[in-house]
Order: sequence, then C-alpha cells, then structure tokens
Amino acid sequence: MSRILLSGGAGYIGSHTAVELLNEGFEVVIADNLYNAEKSVIDRIEEITGKSVTFYEIDVCDKSAVDALLDKENIDAVIHFAGYKAVGESVQKPLMYYRNNIDATLTLLESMKEHNVKRFIFSSSATVYGPFNAIPYVETMKIGDCTSPYGTTKLMIEKILDDVAATDKELSVVSLRYFNPIGAHPSGLIGEKPSGIPNNLMPYITQTAKGIRECLTVFGDDYDTPDGTCIRDYIHVVDLAKGHVAALKYALNHAGSTPINLGSGKGTSVFELIKTFERVNNIKLNYKVGPRRDGDIAAFYADAALAKKLLNWETHQTLEDSCRDSWNWECKNK
Ligand code: NAD
Ligand code: UD1
Repeated sequence: MSRILLSGGAGYIGSHTAVELLNEGFEVVIADNLYNAEKSVIDRIEEITGKSVTFYEIDVCDKSAVDALLDKENIDAVIHFAGYKAVGESVQKPLMYYRNNIDATLTLLESMKEHNVKRFIFSSSATVYGPFNAIPYVETMKIGDCTSPYGTTKLMIEKILDDVAATDKELSVVSLRYFNPIGAHPSGLIGEKPSGIPNNLMPYITQTAKGIRECLTVFGDDYDTPDGTCIRDYIHVVDLAKGHVAALKYALNHAGSTPINLGSGKGTSVFELIKTFERVNNIKLNYKVGPRRDGDIAAFYADAALAKKLLNWETHQTLEDSCRDSWNWECKNK
C-alpha cells in the first residue's frame, strides 16, 4: 500500500485529507512545523480513523530535515499543503509569504528528485484565475493578475511545477485549485481554527452565533448579483479531502502537470449562506450590511467538469451539511 507524505498535514485541509487517506488504506506521514496547527490534531486523526500516523515536527523549508525524512520513510507521493494562507497578511508581509510558500515547495521538489519520488499534489487556489476571467472558471483559462502576494505565490508555484514536469517525463503533478472550503469533520474532532479575528465568512458566522463576535458585517449588498451580495463556490472540507484521494489515484497513473478545480460548480450568495446557517441550526444571527471589502470579486464559482472527467470526483455534501458541521465544530471546540 502506498505511503503518502502530507506537508502541512496537521492543518485544516491536511488533517481532513489524512483521515480520508487512512480510511482508504493509505499510510500517512505528516510533516508540519505547527506554525498554524496543534499537535493534538494528530491524536484526533488517529481517534477518528483508529489508525496510526507518523508525525515529524519539521519545517519543510529545512532541506536536511526533509532529506532525513525521505531517507527514512518509503514515500510514494507528496501532498503539499504547507504554506501561509492569510490574504491580507500577505499584502503586509510579502517577503514572509514568498519565502515560506516558494521555499517549502522548492525544498520538497529538490528532495523528492534526489529520492526518486515522482508524484506531487499541490494546494493551489481559485485565486489564480484573478479578477478578470468570466465565470464559471475553467482550467483552460489564462491565469494571472492575482490580487495579493498570497495568490501570486500559488501562481508562481503552478508555473514552477509546469517547468519541472516538462523536464522529467516520469513526474506527475496535480495542482488542485480549491474554491471556498468550509465545514468540518462530522465528528467535531477536527476543523478550522482561525487565529484572532476571522477574515473568512464561515468562521465569522460561527463565532458570531457563539457570541465571540458581536455582529457579522455583510461586505456590500449592491453587487450585480441576484440579491446584491457576493457569490462564491463553498465546498465542504470532507468533499475537498476526498478530492485529494481521487487526485492521488490519478497521479499514480498519469505523468505531466495538470491543474484541476475542486469546487461544487454552484454559486451561493452571502445572504443565502447566512439564511441556510440560521435555518439548519435554528439560530438567529446578528448581522448588518456594511460597505464592500477592498479587492472582493462580485461572483465566482468553478466549472467542475474536469474533476468529474479525470478523477471521477464530485461533491456530495450539501450547503446544509457544511452549516451543520461548521456549527458542531464551533460548539465542541473553544
Ligand atoms: P492551514 O494553515 O490550516 O494548514 C497549513 C499547515 O501548514 C499548518 O498546519 C502549518 O502549521 C503548516 N506549515 C506552514 N508552513 C510550514 C512550513 N514551512 N513547514 C511545515 N509546516 C508548515 O491551512 P489550510 O486551510 O489547511 O490550507 C492548506 C493549503 O491549502 C495552503 O497551502 C493554503 O494556501 C491552500 N488553500 C487554502 C484555502 C482555504 O480556504 N483554507 C483555499 C485555497 C488554498
Ligand atoms: C478569500 C481569498 C482566497 C482564499 C479564500 C479562502 C481573496 C481574493 N480570496 O476568498 O484566496 O482561498 O479566501 O481562504 O482574498 N464576507 C462578508 N463578511 C465577512 C467575511 C466575508 O460579507 O465578515 C463575504 C466576502 O465579501 C465574500 C464572501 O463573504 O464575498 C467570502 O469571503 P471569504 O470567506 O473571505 O472568501 P473569499 O474572499 O472568497
């Protein structure tokens, strides 16, 4: 059975992917420096699955530490989640973002080359489509014009991966372009833990429902959309995690560099998400409409056909499931 290295595997998406891989019989090795995660996540992955995980507390920019890991573990593929992801912070601290996100990727690729590891799945983002493409976003569109250094790191890494794959015909790379991940594992044992005041909508909703935040501000209701609020493609993190298992199986059998959208293909407005959360959880949310947030795009969602075609993957969880599981996670974890 294949042994998979998850860089950043103690984080939000990595931990859910670890669960799905273990459930499918893969062996999991996690490398994480715990910059944005807690060690207890490893125990929780083991508790959910009843299987053990090998954990390395290392920085994946540290070449000798990555080399030592690949020397010891018999790794068949790498799923690379490790990176910084706060869009606003990346505008304030671009060097920190370019250094960590690019360096981590180069270090892993160099060590993989030396250890003859030929499969790489990368956490990219819908942000690589930039603000000018028509919707839905299709993988064949020209990417670029990213609106933040964070987004530009994803764009640059996709380009690096294309170039590296072009020189090694055995290398298989899949760049998964995530849309908006929300939700948590239904057990309530793992989920997203934003540090400080959340920037993203769903954690802001759950923290407002819990009374941690006084009031949710809807950023603008004067967009050119049916109800005036922005539209996004929200995807349950368990569906997203299963998308990684499907991409891994694809990468085990196909060489080359392939970008694939992981989204539901369906747009949901901010008001729709709020109303669904209130209905499913029987909660009245305290919210008000405020001004637009700088840099927000009115609407985007995925064309999800390529994932269906190449990976035989599509989403199964509903928006209701996401709202229920996000709230369950918020209630069980302080
Ligand atoms: P996360 O912060 O929860 O997980 C990232 C993990 O990487 C953390 O556990 C952190 O400690 C670790 N890490 C960071 N730098 C490291 C380093 N140099 N060495 C070792 N470990 C390191 O984030 P997430 O939401 O799980 O996102 C995972 C990936 O998916 C990221 O690359 C992110 O940019 C990308 N992504 C996330 C979203 C989203 O909305 N969550 C959307 C699109 C893309
Ligand atoms: C942002 C990032 C994207 C990243 C994603 C998930 C940009 C351009 N995109 O997307 O790279 O992958 O987060 O981490 O920055 N909203 C409110 N009130 C709030 C918070 C959000 O109304 O308090 C609205 C926003 O205006 C937006 C929607 O909710 O319309 C979703 O926002 P958010 O969760 O931050 O995700 P994105 O902006 O889509």
